Amino acid sequence: MTLILGIETSCDETAAAVVEEGRIILSNVVASQVELHRQYGGVFPEMASRQHMVAITPVIREALATAQVTWDDLNAIAVVHGPGLAGSLLVGLNVAKALSLATDLPLIAVNHLEAHVYANWLLPPDVDPQTFVPPSFPLICLVVSGGHTELIEMREHHEYHLLGHTIDDAAGEAFDKVARLLNLGFPGGPAIQRAAEEGNALAFAFPRALNVGRYDFSFSGLKTAVLRLVQELQQAQGAKIDVRGQKLAEASIDETQTEIPVADIAASFQAAVVDALVEKTAQAVADTQASQVLIAGGVAANRLLRSEMVRRLEVPVRYPPIRFCTDNAAMVAVAGYYNYLAGDRAGLELDVIPGLSLV
Ligand code: KG4
Ligand code: ZN
Repeated sequence: MTLILGIETSCDETAAAVVEEGRIILSNVVASQVELHRQYGGVFPEMASRQHMVAITPVIREALATAQVTWDDLNAIAVVHGPGLAGSLLVGLNVAKALSLATDLPLIAVNHLEAHVYANWLLPPDVDPQTFVPPSFPLICLVVSGGHTELIEMREHHEYHLLGHTIDDAAGEAFDKVARLLNLGFPGGPAIQRAAEEGNALAFAFPRALNVGRYDFSFSGLKTAVLRLVQELQQAQGAKIDVRGQKLAEASIDETQTEIPVADIAASFQAAVVDALVEKTAQAVADTQASQVLIAGGVAANRLLRSEMVRRLEVPVRYPPIRFCTDNAAMVAVAGYYNYLAGDRAGLELDVIPGLSLV
């Protein structure tokens, strides 16, 4: 029986988890900083690292206590060393190194994006371990998070072939920026999804940017189209605040304006993002021998993305349970388990790599 402690501090969640055999979750503790960062409308890097410092020890203690294991029961400590915010990554990595040194447990370096992919190997809490069939190769994986949008072909464990990526904003970043523009709050993805439930996705025909590279994505034109629409609507209504000329990140609709059809804009925007993601993934499936599709990363929590992928693709589509789509340490322990099996061991000289890529 192999037990891995996973540690994740790459952005704004302080997380630790214990996972057995790379799939059975014995504990999964996540201390979210979302309330702390909400007042800034996004993640404030220095606050994030300081909060990780405060939370990391209790979070790890709780992960071990909930799993009812001691240090002697564990086989390795897996920690994310990139990509992410340098100051945040440093906290988790230094704690993992200190623990490895003190306990003699091997240290395993985990790529945060790989961890998102491997969340698909976790046994969902409501599934019988005897009947669980893990993903099989070859497969196509769409990684969609706050910082990344990548279409990857996997022929084996750890074998990643990059098919395409975003040429500008990440999908999650687009959700966050448009949510800010629409005054829907932070984080943007869940807020847009909630607003979209009341809206008509056919209300506005936003661009899909399908004519970039065959498997590439572009969301900046869509973002600008939303900004222009809001500006036009505000002008037409004689808004007090004119956001003309402002960059999207700084703009937001006038809260006194009640006539802006926020729900329709959110629904039409979400439909455009999902359409582009599904279309390019379908293209990749058609061009390769992929037997299934995995969705990974925070945006994989999006209900429309999940349902449209299942509806429009001809191969089985898998995605992790919602709480394992956004940042957590169970996925780190799973990716760490496969690295452990492959014989990967990190030395104490391991550094953080904020710009680490998957391929
Ligand atoms: O993977 P993640 O938790 O952190 C990164 O590694 O970036 O992803 C966070 C991103 C944010 O941009 C957030 O708005 C987006 O995932 N997200 C969603 C949803 N839940 C989170 N986007 C769309 N729909 C959602 N339900
Ligand atoms: Zn993430």
